[in-house]
Amino acid sequence: MKAIILAGGTGSRLYPLTQVTSKQLQAVFDKPMIYYPLTVLIAAGIRDICLISTSNDLPRFKHLLHDGTQWGINIIHREQARPSGIAQAFLIAEEFIGTDNVALMLGDNIFSGSDDFPRALSTFRGGATIFAYLVKNPEHYGVVEFTPLGQPLSLEEKPLKPKSNYAVPGVYLYDNQVLEIARSIRPSARGEMEITDVNLEYMRRGELHVHRLSRGFAWMDAGTSSTLQEASAYIAAIERRQGIKIGCPEEAALIRKFLTIERFEALVQAMPNCEYRDYLSHLATETRNLGKMS
Ligand code: TTP
Repeated sequence: MKAIILAGGTGSRLYPLTQVTSKQLQAVFDKPMIYYPLTVLIAAGIRDICLISTSNDLPRFKHLLHDGTQWGINIIHREQARPSGIAQAFLIAEEFIGTDNVALMLGDNIFSGSDDFPRALSTFRGGATIFAYLVKNPEHYGVVEFTPLGQPLSLEEKPLKPKSNYAVPGVYLYDNQVLEIARSIRPSARGEMEITDVNLEYMRRGELHVHRLSRGFAWMDAGTSSTLQEASAYIAAIERRQGIKIGCPEEAALIRKFLTIERFEALVQAMPNCEYRDYLSHLATETRNLGKMS
């Protein structure tokens, strides 16, 4: 499976912060926001990633992420000329996707806890898999309604009267039919190629699977200044309490064995003195010690 991270958009709800840099490069506690979705993908074993952003912001993403080699992955960078909708990502990344399956992640969605995503990925057998998450304010999201047997019954984008409290987070898994479906999508009334229309087409074909996220799973969308602050506070609380980091691509790459311990240590040594480096140095020592014991 390949993956796309969609990190363009206008970020108007984060004005004036987005006058300084793009939404997905804002700090969520101690790291740029884009590290969080990126780490979820690496932790799930995905190595080929296409990052899509605006022409204005792409140079900053390239400066931060390079081509991924430093983490043992491949990142290509592609431009979305205008924010014409989430489903346009498949057309922009068509060549990159080729004949493969593809995961799509929104660059401003933050996930933490539980192994729902890697499990859904390892059991993916075609069609589309989307996720469902209980929220208090479903009207801000795509909303999925279920039959009593747990099958998806309806799917609506930002409904005024939601039929359930299950919102659809910004991570989706598709087989290669998504290319043909994306080509057939027409812009909605708000002028965007809607991801919900892609999912509705899979539903019409009887190939839409919905994975209900477990209670221990945290999903935050950091699109407004309040939710950005909430996400930062949540990450800070967990990291301080447990002494672990969330959204650390170096750590995920080491655990996934995308990086040898030697390459990992070289990466850490090149970092300036900071808490982030201290954390990774400690991890390197622990990994070496574990290696000696086994
Ligand atoms: P949104 O939060 O819906 O839109 P936005 O980022 O432009 O923000 P605002 O509403 O405050 O103006 O987008 C969700 C994610 O998808 C976000 O990471 C940006 C990305 N996106 C694109 O990259 N291109 C697009 O055409 C759209 C619609 C969204």
